[in-house]
Amino acid sequence: MAANAVKARTIELPTRSLKGDFALEILDLDLPTATEDELQAFDAICRSSPVVVVRNQKLSAAQVMKVSERIGKVSAQHRVGPHPEFPAITILSNKKVNGEYIGTPNAGRSWHTDGTTYAKLGLTTMLYGIECPPEGADTLIADAVAAFDALPKARQEELEQVRVVHSRTHLIQKYNRSVLTPEDFERMKDVIHPVVVCSPIDGRKSFFLTNGSTKSVVGMSQEDGMKLIQELIKHTTQDQFVYSHKWKDNDVLIWNDMCTMHSATLYDETKYERLVYRTWMRPFDVVGATTALEESMSHH
Ligand SMILES: [Fe+2]
Repeated sequence: MAANAVKARTIELPTRSLKGDFALEILDLDLPTATEDELQAFDAICRSSPVVVVRNQKLSAAQVMKVSERIGKVSAQHRVGPHPEFPAITILSNKKVNGEYIGTPNAGRSWHTDGTTYAKLGLTTMLYGIECPPEGADTLIADAVAAFDALPKARQEELEQVRVVHSRTHLIQKYNRSVLTPEDFERMKDVIHPVVVCSPIDGRKSFFLTNGSTKSVVGMSQEDGMKLIQELIKHTTQDQFVYSHKWKDNDVLIWNDMCTMHSATLYDETKYERLVYRTWMRPFDVVGATTALEESMSHH
């Protein structure tokens, strides 16, 4: 066999830790001109680190799609703020054209997790910052594995039994995203997920929590269930578990939603304009549309 028949993947990209093993920055990588070996190393880092940052990237919308497609199956998002040419990109921005917002101006400003209403879990979120305010607008990401680890064993075992009803219609109504028709309610079925899941990064146990889509806890009264979820979110989002991303223009920020929670933060919208592209990537082996949201998106 020729020596080069099996091509060893020997490339290692230089990285530095931003917060322990939780958040890494990849150094000296230019995604649009990277070699296939470099891109494979990039893929490997995205699979093995909950949070990945790559700075100084000049990406067109088409290139944002290309990078996203390496990480997973790019998925439809909410019906608000799609990029006109690439609807799988959601525009997060306070910019206006002819008096209309070009994207969604206030997404995700409480602790939450993306992709909780899919029947089959597993989502990676990527944000690409094109115009970033010089102060404020930090993205906070909490380490839900470390938060789980920090609890006593007996409490962990109790919580492993807890299951949560996640509801897309509840989420949409809570934030008044759009008026739902009876057909929407029929199509967007609630799903149930455990509050403790295995992180796809390393198989360790992680909390899986969110504010938005949480409708109730199985077997608990509404009040007790929501109290428990709020208590766990408060625990998980304590400062010691949180990486705070301070944006610079042309930053790429990627995180795995199975082992984290995240929150946007405020900035002075009278003073600054912000323009960020968001993509959502599901596991490559997800078959077809598994939620009504995706089915409805495919007709829009
Ligand atoms: Fe989010």
